[in-house]
Amino acid sequence: MKITLFWASIALSALPRALAATESTATTATATTTSTSTAHSCTASLVTKLCDYPSPGDAFAVAEDSRASCWDYCNAHPPCDFLIFDAGNPYLGTGSCWLYPGQTFNESKGTTGCSNPNLSVYDKPVCASPTTTATTTASACTATETPTAVASVCGYPTPDDNCFSTCSASSGAVDCLSQCVKAGLCNYVVFNPHNDDNSQYASGTCWMYPNGTYNAADATTCTGDAEQYVYKNPCPNLDLMTSSGATAAATTTSKNSAPTGLSLSGPLAIGVALLIGQAL
Ligand SMILES: *[C@@H]1O[C@H](CO)[C@@H](O)[C@H](O)[C@H]1NC(C)=O
Ligand SMILES: *[C@@H]1O[C@H](CO)[C@@H](O)[C@H](O)[C@H]1NC(C)=O
Ligand SMILES: *[C@@H]1O[C@H](CO)[C@@H](O)[C@H](O)[C@H]1NC(C)=O
Repeated sequence: MKITLFWASIALSALPRALAATESTATTATATTTSTSTAHSCTASLVTKLCDYPSPGDAFAVAEDSRASCWDYCNAHPPCDFLIFDAGNPYLGTGSCWLYPGQTFNESKGTTGCSNPNLSVYDKPVCASPTTTATTTASACTATETPTAVASVCGYPTPDDNCFSTCSASSGAVDCLSQCVKAGLCNYVVFNPHNDDNSQYASGTCWMYPNGTYNAADATTCTGDAEQYVYKNPCPNLDLMTSSGATAAATTTSKNSAPTGLSLSGPLAIGVALLIGQAL
């Protein structure tokens, strides 16, 4: 009896401490979980580390708060086959994220052999959820994510209605094709880049041609680089499924044309700006 009471009292006196211990463990665990679970859906494998690699255009160099954010950014900007993360601050994990849409990694363009290679090259991210794109992909047509231009030209005329209801702002060729598929009445598109790099994967305007086919004779000779990229509707059969009422909706859709990246302010942003400046 005495012994039982004794053990019971010990047990009771130990209880608050045990509870406290459990609580603090729980708190720690919660805190840890919260800080690491910022909804990143992608992972990517390290291909190599380099000292230097030609930087992409301004539209594709963004400051990110982590490698994982850079993988997500690549996933959101197809076609993105590889990316480079330049660790700026090893303690914060922040750095610059470079994308090369439409390109494959070419190791011979990189420089190796320095004592402290800062550029981590990652292959195409593998993501848990289906592409969390900034550019909305027409649901059933994944071919819009890997556009192949049938021509790169200049001076091609606008659609017959002179852009009254057939042109829109677009975040890039992928988005332009996606709008075309959704529009239902769209045989082909001309994407006109309006960005410093003249890239078809950054912002511009999207001209959608409801009838006819691309006619090479209507284009003029380029004096410099090509200014227009022509793509066929990769999923014309979806027209039947989406034609009812989709036309009006699609033609008024405009995408945010600015590259969406996590923007950082302060020294890092300045550092990134300097990096970009140096690369140009
Ligand atoms: C890598 O970054 C560190 C710290 O910013 C810098 O001191 C070093 O020179 C960089 N290395 C290369 C190869 O750029
Ligand atoms: C890789 O880069 C090198 C050097 O710039 C170039 O000569 C070569 O053609 C490139 N290879 C591919 C497959 O693009
Ligand atoms: C497209 O259709 C309109 C109206 O039916 C017509 O005026 C125009 O000539 C057609 N354009 C082409 C390229 O077929």
